[in-house]
Amino acid sequence: MDTKVKKAFGDPERDRSLMEEAGKLIKSGELVGIPTETVYGLAGDALNPESSAKIYAAKGRPSDNPLIVHIAEKSALKKITASVPEKAEILIDAFWPGPLTLVFRRSGAVPKETTGGLDTVAVRMPVNDIAREFILASGGYIAAPSANSSGRPSCTTAEHVLEDMRGKIPLIIDGGEVGIGLESTIVDMSGDIPCLLRPGIISIDMLREKIGEVDIDPSIEGVMDENARPKAPGMKYKHYAPRGELYIVKGDPEQVISEINKRCASDGEKGLRTGVLSSEETKDRYRADIVESVGSRKDPPSIAKNLFSVLRDMDRKDADLIYSEEFDVPGAGMAIMNRLVRAAGHKIIEV
Ligand code: TXA
Ligand code: MG
Repeated sequence: MDTKVKKAFGDPERDRSLMEEAGKLIKSGELVGIPTETVYGLAGDALNPESSAKIYAAKGRPSDNPLIVHIAEKSALKKITASVPEKAEILIDAFWPGPLTLVFRRSGAVPKETTGGLDTVAVRMPVNDIAREFILASGGYIAAPSANSSGRPSCTTAEHVLEDMRGKIPLIIDGGEVGIGLESTIVDMSGDIPCLLRPGIISIDMLREKIGEVDIDPSIEGVMDENARPKAPGMKYKHYAPRGELYIVKGDPEQVISEINKRCASDGEKGLRTGVLSSEETKDRYRADIVESVGSRKDPPSIAKNLFSVLRDMDRKDADLIYSEEFDVPGAGMAIMNRLVRAAGHKIIEV
């Protein structure tokens, strides 16, 4: 299959024929790569079980891992949910459209293929104009996981989507680089107490400020027990990982720099290619084959935005071993470290 990449502008007039083309593909059961404000998505018709099956196949993703249903209007919620609790209404008013996914008890309209067999459904209303135009042109209910191949870093540009999906889908809509760079915050609203399943740019503090008590799923912070079952099934898989072996080095900043330099020197002697994920502030301090700044510690959103593309760069530049500083920055730190720790397969060196 030939994969076309076509530019969108976020302007209904200029995008009309592209959205018509994309909408036709979705309605005929095909998949389309789309920009959102968080990361690029691999979109299919959420109400068509065959589209969901195609999504799992294109990503190489286990089919017990449920998909998020994307809507463009709040009125669309009714058809796919069994009930919307009052606290969910408060979060919707505060954060939709935007990078927040809420899990509800589902209605019969959502096929089990889309929800990985669960009796709940995850729903999100993106704020990105291109995503919203696309959802409306495509029937209003779009299943869209992140557009990466399963296990790889999520896609923050249309080029990344092409890297992973070339030959597998007919169309990628290019909306330029995404604004946020990490996937949406996920909160389960289906139980008695709301529970954070995946941290994102909308932080736990922002949620608690609106609705009070919010639990944190144990899979987010600790290392999961082999037999434990995280509530967001996706969180149990190795994820976001570059091909090279990634280690996080944490501790006193000066000692981190010297430990990483020491390891790079010894790896280099063995003929291995080394990479470092530094901050803007420390990038000149490292001696490795590849040194990439993820962003400035004074600007946490810059780190969130660049993380996945820097991990992909390490693949492009063939790093065998990659060492990263810890980015436990205010605000976005929980979300950034959640992705980085999984990308490293929980390999952390303390100095
Ligand atoms: O920002 C985002 O959310 C992006 C963009 C494309 O919208 N999408 C995204 O989808 O990150 P995905 O499929 O890569 O991650 C969805 C996560 C998975 O960990 C999945 O297990 C969880 O959401 N999830 C989906 N439905 C769920 C449900 N009913 N209950 C619990 N977890 C669910
Ligand atoms: Mg994903």
